[in-house]
Amino acid sequence: MNIKELYDFGRDALLNQKFENPGLEASVLLLEATGIDKLNFYKNHDRLVIDSEIDKYKELIERRLTSEPVAYILGKKEFYSREFSVDGNVLIPRPETELLVDKAIIILKGFDYPSILDVGTGSGCIAVTLKDEIPDSVCVATDISYGALQKAKQNSKSNDCYPFFIKGNLLEFIKDSKFDLIVSNPPYVREKLFHKLDRGVRNYEPKSALVAGDNGLGIISKIISESMRVLKNEGWCLLEIGFDQSVKVIEMFELNGYKEIEVFRDLSGIDRVIKAKWKK
Ligand SMILES: C[S@@+](CC[C@H](N)C(=O)[O-])C[C@H]1O[C@@H](n2cnc3c(N)ncnc32)[C@H](O)[C@@H]1O
Repeated sequence: MNIKELYDFGRDALLNQKFENPGLEASVLLLEATGIDKLNFYKNHDRLVIDSEIDKYKELIERRLTSEPVAYILGKKEFYSREFSVDGNVLIPRPETELLVDKAIIILKGFDYPSILDVGTGSGCIAVTLKDEIPDSVCVATDISYGALQKAKQNSKSNDCYPFFIKGNLLEFIKDSKFDLIVSNPPYVREKLFHKLDRGVRNYEPKSALVAGDNGLGIISKIISESMRVLKNEGWCLLEIGFDQSVKVIEMFELNGYKEIEVFRDLSGIDRVIKAKWKK
């Protein structure tokens, strides 16, 4: 059997089960199973494969057929041009969250030696990226999940970028420190919409990273009301939100006295990120 025939086997298996990107996923898993690089894959289609490569590839395809996300199978995901290790303890970093990081960087450029708090850090993708992009910053990252924090610390090391990681419930543990920016991609999915999520998300990603009470707004609401205590005067709260939550979240910011509220759309035209300034 050669590389092309092995690839065809994987692609057809995924195609038969109606996966959205059978060709792409079959080739990514093939590179993982055989260790060859992209260029050699395209140039040497007739290279023969050995039994151990066939077995490994079949095992990876079997895992994908159960809907396990490719990122968990590979154990990694690219975010903001950096590599993050992922497993079932952490949400897989999403492209939409790169918009949150874009907006955070713009805000942080307005401060000297800014202090950042990332609430619900998960894989650490936001905190590690911001610390790397703004090396003069002091960055604290928190999560309630011990497993997530272990992954975040691993990603901090592999990217050679070191936020401070603290286990805690939202902002409860912060007593005296004040921050220029509180950033968060919190859980915001409504419990009753959980069953509508993609099977791979439902069955493999941590539910505690996705779902929040009060119609998905429970955690966002707590972050907004607790942030006032923890933000410096004229500091910013920057949040990722669900597709239909912008009106409610604007209201929450307004009720709590925040100013300069602005919503940003993602590439699909969906309200995805919101920022607000805390002014006494
Ligand atoms: C949507 S994930 C975001 C992960 C990562 N920041 C990202 O953007 O990929 C939300 C994270 O919040 C954490 N979390 C949920 N409830 C929390 C709480 N009460 N306090 C702190 N972190 C919490 C979850 O463990 C999860 O890692």
